[in-house]
Amino acid sequence: MGDTLRRVKNIVILISGRGSNMQALVAACQNAGAGARVVAVISNRPDAAGLAWAAERGLVTDCVDHRTFADRASFDAALRERIDACAPDFVLLAGFMRILTAGFVAHYEGRLVNIHPSLLPAFAGLATHEKALAAGVCAHGATVHFVTPDLDHGPIIAQAVVAVLPGDDAQSLAARVLEQEHRLYPLALGWLIDGRIELKAGRVCFNGPAEPALLCGC
Ligand code: GRF
Repeated sequence: MGDTLRRVKNIVILISGRGSNMQALVAACQNAGAGARVVAVISNRPDAAGLAWAAERGLVTDCVDHRTFADRASFDAALRERIDACAPDFVLLAGFMRILTAGFVAHYEGRLVNIHPSLLPAFAGLATHEKALAAGVCAHGATVHFVTPDLDHGPIIAQAVVAVLPGDDAQSLAARVLEQEHRLYPLALGWLIDGRIELKAGRVCFNGPAEPALLCGC
């Protein structure tokens, strides 16, 4: 299908805090011819700094406060309702600090994507930079992946590598990884929007020539 006929894809971004990855995704969607628009930024925390940033720029924002729900399933059901009202093509987790139920994940199969600040499958969970330093790895980085019910696992779309330098502490390492996250997530989003990649039988498939899915931020 020619570019002129290409349907603009709807993107919903979920955040919990600062939202710097969300900002990188918004910027990517605002590029001429990006083929996608951010239809909502939704947070589980009303005080998320990223939510205020998005609202100031005229984006649609919403909050589903997890503290007002009795359990994980009822929170996920409410979140799903709000997301689906936006008719998203893709739901991007960008620093969204909630464990999602298997039913929620299954509902968005192939459309739910996350960024994690490590080279998965190493260092799932929190404090990834501290874990990388403690393990003494030479290479660290970030991963964009399709979400599965298994926390911080799932088919890998792209990764960015960062060298661990002598004298690094968690803060300096996190800063260099974050810089790469801001390149990596828009890159992966571009592939999704263009239909270059899709999830098939639990694997990431490239339609057309394979892309180099490894960025080097060394
Ligand atoms: C990022 O490092 C992201 O990979 C992780 O949480 C952090 C969120 O940062 N999941 P921000 O809110 O995007 O600035």
